[in-house]
Amino acid sequence: MSKRLYIETVGCQMNVLDSELVAAELLDAGYELVGSAREADTVLFNTCSVRQHAEDKIYSALGRLKHVKDRHPQNIIGVIGCMAQKDQQMIFRRAPHVDLVVGPGQLGRIAALLERVAAGDGPQMEVSPDRNSADRAAVERSFARFEPLRTAKVRPVPHQAMVRIMFGCDKFCAYCIVPSVRGPEQSRPAEQIETEVRRLAEQGCLEVTLLGQTVNSYRDRSSGRTIRLADLLYRLQEVEGLRRVKFVTNHPRQMTTELLEAVRDLPKVSPYLHVPAQSGSNRVLRRMKRGYTAEAYRKMLAHIRQTVPQAAITSDFIVGFCGETEDDFRQTVDLVCGARFKNSFIFKYSPRPKTRAAELYDDDVPHDVKRRRNNELLAIQNAISLEDNQPLVGRTVEILVEGPSKAARRRGAAGEPTQLVGRTTCDRIVVFDGPKHLTGKILQVMIEKVDVFTLFGCP
Ligand code: 5AD
Ligand code: SF4
Repeated sequence: MSKRLYIETVGCQMNVLDSELVAAELLDAGYELVGSAREADTVLFNTCSVRQHAEDKIYSALGRLKHVKDRHPQNIIGVIGCMAQKDQQMIFRRAPHVDLVVGPGQLGRIAALLERVAAGDGPQMEVSPDRNSADRAAVERSFARFEPLRTAKVRPVPHQAMVRIMFGCDKFCAYCIVPSVRGPEQSRPAEQIETEVRRLAEQGCLEVTLLGQTVNSYRDRSSGRTIRLADLLYRLQEVEGLRRVKFVTNHPRQMTTELLEAVRDLPKVSPYLHVPAQSGSNRVLRRMKRGYTAEAYRKMLAHIRQTVPQAAITSDFIVGFCGETEDDFRQTVDLVCGARFKNSFIFKYSPRPKTRAAELYDDDVPHDVKRRRNNELLAIQNAISLEDNQPLVGRTVEILVEGPSKAARRRGAAGEPTQLVGRTTCDRIVVFDGPKHLTGKILQVMIEKVDVFTLFGCP
């Protein structure tokens, strides 16, 4: 009997990649992928713990599956990824109909664990030991590398792929749960990354996005020499067939001259830099343990603009962090007004258990104040994003076509041409009408109008 698998993914690009790898592995083990939980007999939730809201959504989705499990007890429900590592046994207590809990370090074990559940061995759980409770080598080993062979079949866009270059994080920013759920920072050997990218390019992949929590602290010492991100980019520039290389997420302290010069000098490397600032107030940055001041961040921005003038720079901000005053928030507004980011992702602070901030400080900014600051900062950033897009009207941009837009897919869009979406090297989204067979092509598109998030073009 064929087993029908559905994976619901929330969270960051790391999770999207993990789901792709899990799907590839389970396809190999005889599963078939289906488009919704309703059609599936195995449902996996790949979860995120970065904010409370992401967890609440998963627990309510699990709740909604309870009656399905009552009617079809042989169906399997699994919780994998960051929340599995964080909540462990508590998931079985809060949702007793869950059969499987697997942390980000044990994804390679899923096929075997699913078999055990199916064989009637009862609920299965595999997670890593707590970061503080064992020695680093043991914790590191427990976050086993999961690198199954890639197949274009399970990628949403076969011409684009994410490639992990680092696991985990050692920065321990005061608000962040990632170091405890994703484990110690480990860089993959450059050789291995290069082989994977070559193979992807041979499969027709034109664009890779290199992933790491702090991708610019990449450092591979496995060959005796130290290979950094800039060196890796030079190697990937040589990969035949590959057209674009992007990388996320950067830490502001490690935007080195070598890295910026690589971005400037290598034609395949996209001039797109995501460098989260988190706050514009030195007092808040210190409490967040970010390791830089607002002045240092501005200097780093000036360095980028000077070296790569055409770069699109994006950022993340947390509003309402513990003790953030109105004056602190004004300093963040000042930074956003001056920096002119292409885009900023803005989040309301959410205390995370066992982080330094949750242990040391009160979550003392009321929720409606967080919401007001969030809305205000978003409105300022949106106005800047729109102004930033406007000069593109009447200009031609180069895009990689990703396929029909979400709206076109919803409409079923039988007749051609349909609405297509593509992306520029600066990660701007371009929507235009064209035949579906343009998917996976790199084209020049003339921009006719723009809004805050989208450029509208005609080929
Ligand atoms: N609360 C709110 N936002 C957070 N982020 C990380 N941890 C938290 C938290 N506890 C945000 C940061 C990070 C992005 C991925 O999520 O801005 O850059
Ligand atoms: Fe990604 Fe962090 Fe969320 Fe895990 S907790 S899915 S690493 S954003």
